[in-house]
Amino acid sequence: MNKKYFIILLVFFFIIHIKETYGCHASGGGCENRSNYKCGAQVTYANLQPNSILNITVKSPDYLDGRGASAIGHFSMHVDNNGGGYYFFKKPIWINGCHCSSCENIPLSYNSQWQFDLPTPPKGTGFDIWIAIYWSCLVGTRSVPCNSENVHYRGYVN
Ligand SMILES: *[C@@H]1O[C@H](CO)[C@@H](O)[C@H](O)[C@H]1NC(C)=O
Ligand SMILES: *[C@@H]1O[C@H](CO)[C@@H](O)[C@H](O)[C@H]1NC(C)=O
Repeated sequence: MNKKYFIILLVFFFIIHIKETYGCHASGGGCENRSNYKCGAQVTYANLQPNSILNITVKSPDYLDGRGASAIGHFSMHVDNNGGGYYFFKKPIWINGCHCSSCENIPLSYNSQWQFDLPTPPKGTGFDIWIAIYWSCLVGTRSVPCNSENVHYRGYVN
């Protein structure tokens, strides 16, 4: 075999390997009130802090074998009184240390802070958040199946 061709092939398989190791993502399968899990994922806390920071806590509905809140995605917000909207990200990201090869013994809740590209409105201003919460993810290499729920949260700046 041609040496150059062999090296190209090697690089190709190396890239595939990298993609399988690091390129996997949570894939939402919805949720239903059947057997050992049920819907009920929540945003348990959210506030727009000064300096345009959203502080948010999400929670998965149950604690099945320690498979708690595992990923978040489709994450956006809108501020009342023409305060504008902001799209944080669409593609789900892993949280609580959950990843392609292991999502065990992780907590129900996850707190995080996110910068948004709008001024923080005055106290008392209403805002809406839309976020997909994923839990009970199985192990996988590319598309990891999880239970998921699209959650809407209505809050007021305090
Ligand atoms: C599932 O059950 C919970 C608790 O009984 C209920 O609050 C929730 O609305 C149900 N979800 C669906 C999709 O039926
Ligand atoms: C986020 O909010 C929680 C709940 O109020 C609070 O305990 C925590 O200190 C806040 N985090 C930051 C970085 O402000």
